Amino acid sequence: MAKQNQATWGGRFSAGPAELMLSFSESVSFDRRLAQFDIAGSKAHSAMLAHVGLITAKERNAIHRGLDAIGKEIAAGKFEWNTALEDVHMNIEQALTQRVPAAAKLHTARSRNDQVATDMRLFFKWACGEIDARLEEAQRALLALAELDGEVMIPGYTHLQRAQPVQVAHHLAAYLEMFERDRARFSGVAKHANWCPLGAGALAGTTLPIDREFTAKALGFVDERGRPRVTQNSMDTVADRDVFVEFATACALVGTHFSRLAEDLILWSSSEFKYIDLPDTFCTGSSLMPQKKNPDSCELLRGKAARLQGNLTTLLTMAKGLPLTYNRDLQEDKPPVFDSFDQTMMCLAVVAGTLTGARMRRESCARAVADPALLATDLADYLVENGVPFREAHHVVGAVVKLAETSGVPLDKLATADVQKIHPALKADWIDVFDLKRAAARRIGTGMPGPKQVKRQLARWRKHLA
Ligand code: ARG
Repeated sequence: MAKQNQATWGGRFSAGPAELMLSFSESVSFDRRLAQFDIAGSKAHSAMLAHVGLITAKERNAIHRGLDAIGKEIAAGKFEWNTALEDVHMNIEQALTQRVPAAAKLHTARSRNDQVATDMRLFFKWACGEIDARLEEAQRALLALAELDGEVMIPGYTHLQRAQPVQVAHHLAAYLEMFERDRARFSGVAKHANWCPLGAGALAGTTLPIDREFTAKALGFVDERGRPRVTQNSMDTVADRDVFVEFATACALVGTHFSRLAEDLILWSSSEFKYIDLPDTFCTGSSLMPQKKNPDSCELLRGKAARLQGNLTTLLTMAKGLPLTYNRDLQEDKPPVFDSFDQTMMCLAVVAGTLTGARMRRESCARAVADPALLATDLADYLVENGVPFREAHHVVGAVVKLAETSGVPLDKLATADVQKIHPALKADWIDVFDLKRAAARRIGTGMPGPKQVKRQLARWRKHLA
């Protein structure tokens, strides 16, 4: 007889686990969210057992009915979880065993090692789709702001020094590109997750005549043509955590992207820049300073990005020293994965919420972008068009900029006679370079911020996100 609290493995034990060991080793507090995947896995596994004749059709039906009932109870929050049963797998199996005698055969040719690998792969396939939808939502919010205020010009920066003028739409569309790559990354993770672990057993498969392809098909682990995809090495199957790392990597990279966006918004919303007004609904005030409106959502986005990187580091560090195959350390793989999922989902919704309701502050943007130094490079291009080698042109314009600085005259207000002393190729029309509209309109190449190009970019995104 198994001793109390010794769940399924108590046969060779004379004492049950210490209370401390129970609370130390339980995972059901966090892996219970795998319940629906675990049930799907058990249904597919029992269907396979019946298919190969290891259980009867009647037993399979009883198991399925029992699992469905448990699934409903869990969904309704009525299922009683027991930490003494360690994890989601044993909780469900024990509950089933109490209701359905045939459940004693459910774990035939299966280990929790291939079971948990399966649950997690099902989770990843689902989670990647959820995050993809949120990424798309964030993209729509970027596009909406780009369509609303996109034609506003602001300085673009390198080294956080004013560099060249760009349309806000062009700046925002940079993040559309990043999020699009993120979406591709998650779709890649989902593809890598699409191999069925069931049948790998604890590490060395089973002597029983199972049909792994049947199980894989039943769980949707199939290629584009519906052919089953099963993992090819049983030891790798239960030891492998690559997809965990890939998923956390994809989340960390989304985090890096929304953190950079957040940083742009924080700078833009400061009194020093005044380029944007963030919505009150995503800002907070100060308990002391009545005038403050703080960009907290953006700051938290930056902070969460650090957390996402931490989760990735946890997973990499956890896996790197483990001998094959399964080690209990691997139970610690789930909290960082779930946290990365939850935080990424929430952050992307916050990105969308913060952008929706943000408005560019047109006057201060116009003031900033009127800085003629932003077009110093255009002046060098002008010289190139007048036959001056670029390296020389760069020097010449540098001297013109220096002259403006030392004489305290804006670049575009210098006398033509004075600049001609620096280089004769600066003809009377040199001043036309500082026409912002003209400067923008000349950036006609693919990926450049000319008005037509930006319009085309936005049209492409509108179509893509429709
Ligand atoms: N809760 C365990 C985990 O998440 C399931 C696998 C347990 N396997 C074992 N041999 N104890 O890793």
